[in-house]
Formats: sequence, structure tokens, C-alpha cells
Amino acid sequence: MKIVIASVACLVTQSTLAAPVEQATYGPPSYPGPGLPGNKQRADAVIEAFRHAWGGYYKYAFPADELTPVTNGKSNPRYASLAHMQKDIVNQILAYIPKIDYSKSINNEQVSLFETTIRYLGGMLSGYDFLTGPLAHLAKDKKNVDALLTQSKNLANYLSFAFDTPSGVPSNNLYFNNRSTDGSTTNGLATIGTLVLEWTRLADITGNKTYADLAQKGESYLLSPVKPASSEPWPGLVGTNVNLSNGHFTDAFGGWVGGDDSFYEYLIKMYVYDTRRFGRYKDEWIKAADSSIAHIASHPSSRPDLTYLAEYDGRRLIYESQHLACFDGGNFLLAGQVLRQKKYIDFGLALTSSCHNTYTSTKTRIGPEVFGWNASAIPRGQEQFYKKNGFYNSVASYDLRPEVIESYYYAYRVTGDRKYQDWAWDAFVAINATTRTASGFSAITDVNAPGGGKKTDNQESFLFAEVLKYCYLIQAEDSVWDANYKGSNQWVYSTEAHPFKVVGPRV
Ligand SMILES: *[C@@H]1O[C@H](CO)[C@@H](O)[C@H](O)[C@H]1NC(C)=O
Ligand SMILES: *[C@@H]1O[C@H](CO)[C@@H](O)[C@H](O)[C@H]1NC(C)=O
Ligand SMILES: *[C@@H]1O[C@H](CO)[C@@H](O)[C@H](O)[C@H]1NC(C)=O
Ligand SMILES: *[C@@H]1O[C@H](CO)[C@@H](O)[C@H](O)[C@H]1NC(C)=O
Ligand SMILES: *[C@@H]1O[C@H](CO)[C@@H](O)[C@H](O)[C@H]1NC(C)=O
Repeated sequence: MKIVIASVACLVTQSTLAAPVEQATYGPPSYPGPGLPGNKQRADAVIEAFRHAWGGYYKYAFPADELTPVTNGKSNPRYASLAHMQKDIVNQILAYIPKIDYSKSINNEQVSLFETTIRYLGGMLSGYDFLTGPLAHLAKDKKNVDALLTQSKNLANYLSFAFDTPSGVPSNNLYFNNRSTDGSTTNGLATIGTLVLEWTRLADITGNKTYADLAQKGESYLLSPVKPASSEPWPGLVGTNVNLSNGHFTDAFGGWVGGDDSFYEYLIKMYVYDTRRFGRYKDEWIKAADSSIAHIASHPSSRPDLTYLAEYDGRRLIYESQHLACFDGGNFLLAGQVLRQKKYIDFGLALTSSCHNTYTSTKTRIGPEVFGWNASAIPRGQEQFYKKNGFYNSVASYDLRPEVIESYYYAYRVTGDRKYQDWAWDAFVAINATTRTASGFSAITDVNAPGGGKKTDNQESFLFAEVLKYCYLIQAEDSVWDANYKGSNQWVYSTEAHPFKVVGPRV
């Protein structure tokens, strides 16, 4: 059984709302042979965890967005959802999707364009790609597969008024009941710049180009050179907030951290998706990546062997990063593989092992939400910790985030080095040991306290869509949907780890 598809097929369940490549220095694809080895025993252990969490969710919370895994209640933080690839689970989800009324949200609550796009729309479209493709045998009723596409269109049509602003940069926070917004006059880099893959995929499958045009128009203001020039402190590295009335940035704060992160991630993924149409996005990724290596890469004074990417405000650096930013290693690795550039692979591996260090340094062997390495700002009591580990915990919670394991996945796919399978296994064992409850897994308050401190009764849908998926994929048999499968990518993973079939030509 493939867990993959499930999440891969990651279906939505929620009632509620309802330059030419530079000279290649990296030779032939690094794909190390006829098939990267899996590890069945470990893959099965991940499936056990997945079925445990699905069982608890289905029993106590389905079809709400999330289970509250300590109290066995439910919550609807978004109009939202998940998925999986076990055949029984796939069909439970598939049977439910046609019943969802996406025209309204529970209690008329606010709907996030970004979250709804990456979790619901991405989940349904990925499910559609898999269930009309390599996993078609999992679906019992083909009508329910067709409904994935119909419901994707319905959802996108309901969301599309978000783009109705003077500039075309979308508003993020929407009310469906009166088709209005929360009145914000700006939107953020990641929330604007992480729509383009899903909306373009929808346009390509349905033949309705409007979906792609809407997302690409918003994105156009984010690409270098941006306005004003002061909001692009180094080529390709830009600010965070953008004015809806004219598409101008309002600050020069940024980095690869939450709020900015997946804008950079999607620049190279759009190229993987369609190398012919998105060469410009790839050029922008290269600018941002080269600027990152030259200007914001940072080595802690106590551990110069480590490499993190700093935040910035203009050209002033801030020595702080996040669990969320730890996808950066994986993104450099993917780019290095598709662009055949060893410098990005080497840099991606350095970032990945430095994020690994945030896991191996704590008592739970799980990394913190926010960490810093500013030697003049070490929190009291963490001096020795900083000296030894090269960072201190600024926010020590763990919210069941995937990014560190996601980077291990790319490191394994690109290098074939089995050490990354071991790292992913260690992380899985730690997460299972520290966060597991009777009905699922829970966020915790302190990765550096014995037992992880307190369980905060929250289980984000990305536990299924990302954490357990990457834990599984890195141990599973090599498959056509894997990154760098026999030297190229036939599928590209969204920021929520929902894979889409690439248009090609494949890289
Ligand atoms: C294409 O999508 C747009 C945006 O949601 C929608 O307004 C329009 O009706 C769609 N066109 C067709 C032919 O479905
Ligand atoms: C739209 O509805 C929401 C939810 O009821 C409400 O908070 C908001 O003020 C309304 N906006 C407008 C412009 O009426
Ligand atoms: C956005 O731009 C408009 C038009 O130039 C301006 O009036 C407004 O003050 C700007 N808003 C912000 C938040 O910068
Ligand atoms: C380090 O912390 C000090 C004190 O808070 C602050 O003034 C300085 O800007 C910080 N430097 C970096 C690089 O984060
Ligand atoms: C995960 O936790 C469960 C419950 O404690 C345990 O039975 C199982 O062996 C654990 N799996 C691994 C791989 O440690």
C-alpha cells in the first residue's frame, strides 16, 4: 500500500466552506543507479503512525479541519483538510469531497486565500493528478475523481474575487458571505507568491487560462526589479509587504523565513513544472540564491562550521531563523539537481546539516520553531547551549512542522547518501516518542524540556500532508513521483507537499 498517494492524493475533507542555465559544473544527473534503496521496515512504521493519526481524526473529528489530539475534539482553523494514500482512506475522502459546499465558511469566518489554495485546492488537484494517473487503481468510483476537478473549479471561482484589486495583487483574508475582505491594504510576499503553481495547474487541467492569469499577474509585481528599488536590498532578495493599490513593496524586511519563504521556493518549482513557460522564474530564483549565498549566509561565532540564512532589514542582517526556513536546504538541492549546478547542491547540503543540528542539539531531538545565533543577544541560561550548538532557542515549541525532514528527502534524492534516511528516521522516532497521543500527534511547548514540555492539543493538517509523507517517501521504494527519479522530475511538490504532474520538458 502506498501511503504516498494518499497524501499524495491528499484529499481535502472539509465541510466547512466551505538566462540560460549557467555553464554546468555539475555533471550528469546525480541519480546513483537503477533505484534508490528503500527500507520497508521503516516505511511500515511510518504507515503505522499515519493510520494511528488518521484513525483518531476520522473517529473524533472528520470532516472538520483538525483533531484536537489531547482532548479528542475538533477544530476548524480554516476551511480545511488532508489526505492519504491508503486505499480505504483515499475512498473515505473521495466519497466526502462531492458533498462539500465551498460557497460558505463555518460561521462566516475569514478564509485565507493562501491557506485554502495550498491545502484544499492543492490537495484536490494533486489527488486528481494521481487518481487519473499512476494511482487510478485506488479510486473505487471514477465519478468521485471527476468531482475533485469540479470542486477545484468551484473553490477557485469562489476565491477569485480576491484578485479584484486595483493592482491585481490579491487580498488574502476573505469573507465569502459578502464577498469582501478584511480591509487590509497590503498582502505579503509568501501569501501572494505561493498561489501560482496551484492556479496554473488548475488552468492547465481545465483549459481555463483565467486561473493562471490571475495568479501570475499578482506574482509579476514580486519579480526583480521590484518597486521601490530600496525594497530589493540585493538582486532577487526582496521585502515582505506589498501595497494592493499599486503593487509596490512597503518595506525591505525579508529572508527565507515564514511570510517570505515559499515565494522563493516556487520560483524554481515553476521551472520544474514547465521549463518552457517559466524560464523567467528560474532566472529570478538564481538571482535570489546567488544573493543569499553572497550576502545573507551566516556562520555562528561559536560554530563556524554551521551555515544558516539570516533575515534582513534593508542590508542590515538579523541572526535569526526558523523551522519554517529549513526547507531552504531542500530547495537549493532541487535547484542544484535541475540546473546541474554543484554550488547549489553543496550549499543546500550545508543548510540541511545545519538544520539537522537544531534537531540533534535538543533534549527531545526535535528542532525549535525559532532560533538565533546573535552572540550579543543570547538569552540568559543558554550561554553554554549556544557555545556548544551554535544557536539558541528563541521560541522552543514544535508545531509538527515538516521542513527539516523535507530537506533530508531532497538530500537523499539528490545524493543517494543513506545517512539522510537515518536522519529522517531519527526525526520520526523522536516525533513519535514525544508528540504522540492516544488519538494522534500534538504540538508541544518545549523541544528542550524532557518529554517536550506540554502538549498543546493541536494537530495541523500538514502532519499528514507533509511530515508523515516525507518520512514515508524517504524510506519507501523508489517511485515515479519521487524527486530526481532516474535523473529528472516527473512530479513537482507544492509547498504543502502535494505533487503535481509536470508539463515538461522534464529536468
Ligand atoms: C474561468 O475562470 C474564471 C475565474 O474563476 C471564471 O470567472 C470563468 O467563469 C471561468 N470560465 C469558464 C468558461 O468556466
Ligand atoms: C462581511 O462579513 C463578515 C462576517 O460576517 C463581517 O465581519 C464583515 O464586516 C462583513 N464585511 C462587509 C464589508 O460587510
Ligand atoms: C498604497 O499606495 C497608495 C497609492 O499610491 C497610497 O495612497 C497608500 O498610502 C499606500 N499604502 C501603503 C500601506 O503604503
Ligand atoms: C544582535 O543583537 C543586538 C542586541 O539586541 C542588536 O542590536 C543587533 O542588531 C543584533 N545583530 C544581529 C546581526 O542580529
Ligand atoms: C511509535 O509509538 C508507538 C506508541 O508508543 C510505538 O508502539 C511504536 O513502536 C513507535 N514507533 C517507532 C518507530 O518508534
